[in-house]
Amino acid sequence: MSTPTSTTIVLITGANRTDGIGYAAARQLALQHGFTVILGSRTLSSSLDEAVKQLEKEGAKNGVHALQIDVASSESVKRAATEVAEKFGKLDVLVNNAALGLPPSRTELIDAWPRMMLGPTEHTRKDFEEVFAVNVFGIVDTINAFAPLLAKSSSPRIVNVTSGAGSLGCMSWFPSSDSGASSIVYSSSKAALNMLTVMYSKDLPKLNPAFKVNAGCPGHTSTSFTKHTGARSPDEGAAVVTWLTTLPDDGPNGGFYCDHPPYSQKNGDFKVVEW
Ligand SMILES: NC(=O)c1ccc[n+]([C@@H]2O[C@H](COP(=O)([O-])OP(=O)(O)OC[C@H]3O[C@@H](n4cnc5c(N)ncnc54)[C@H](OP(=O)(O)O)[C@@H]3O)[C@@H](O)[C@H]2O)c1
Repeated sequence: MSTPTSTTIVLITGANRTDGIGYAAARQLALQHGFTVILGSRTLSSSLDEAVKQLEKEGAKNGVHALQIDVASSESVKRAATEVAEKFGKLDVLVNNAALGLPPSRTELIDAWPRMMLGPTEHTRKDFEEVFAVNVFGIVDTINAFAPLLAKSSSPRIVNVTSGAGSLGCMSWFPSSDSGASSIVYSSSKAALNMLTVMYSKDLPKLNPAFKVNAGCPGHTSTSFTKHTGARSPDEGAAVVTWLTTLPDDGPNGGFYCDHPPYSQKNGDFKVVEW
């Protein structure tokens, strides 16, 4: 049975790591905006319980909840949507943050990253299948499962956490395909996510005209994803997510934004990124 709530409810997938962008966005939304936050995690664990307690201790007053959602599993995604429907009856914001940088079965690449990267012809179909299972198919499943719950919100928002590495324009600037900027697998998964953003931004307003679907790039951020090589803090990386999550009703729909060079020179100055 759902409990009616007047607060804004956000679900962030892959928000279990306290050094990650998803968790930093959850903290900003809970503490600065008073949102009810649902930390999505592919597994329930004591460290996830600690992450929930940490936000409560820091002053999150409208509820912090843990939700098991493995976006690579359609069953898990459906179960998660049922759980949110039963507990809350609606969802206001979905942040598709969970992602893989490398195919999990390529342990040699993961161990050596960023010292070793493969060129396009060295990646296999399996590499693409593993990464797309989370970064693309996982997001399709998640949006489709949660769209009916989001449609019940007065201001439904979807924020897709993408990357400049998925921008065709940005990657075209690099002189060669093995520029070291990104692998073909990750880049093409984020390019696909960018197209999902455009297509859903045109379709979902048919369910509820207030829907906004946007993509944001956090910039090169120091998280476990980058083995802490990024120059930005998770809080700085999360700023674009928080901004897109809290867009007013006259805000943009179907765009790609960031607040870091080369597009923007200062934090908080959100610029449009070319697709
Ligand atoms: N860091 C950067 O420089 C940077 C730059 C541009 C874009 N991004 C994007 O920012 C987002 C967050 O990345 P981050 O840097 O904060 O890295 P992160 O802390 O590693 O976050 C990625 C999260 O995704 C989760 N995840 C992976 N597979 C999943 C699945 N099947 N189901 C559910 N969750 C899954 C991970 O869970 P586990 O803990 O279980 O592995 C982890 O919590 C990603 O979309 C990434 O592509 C990051």
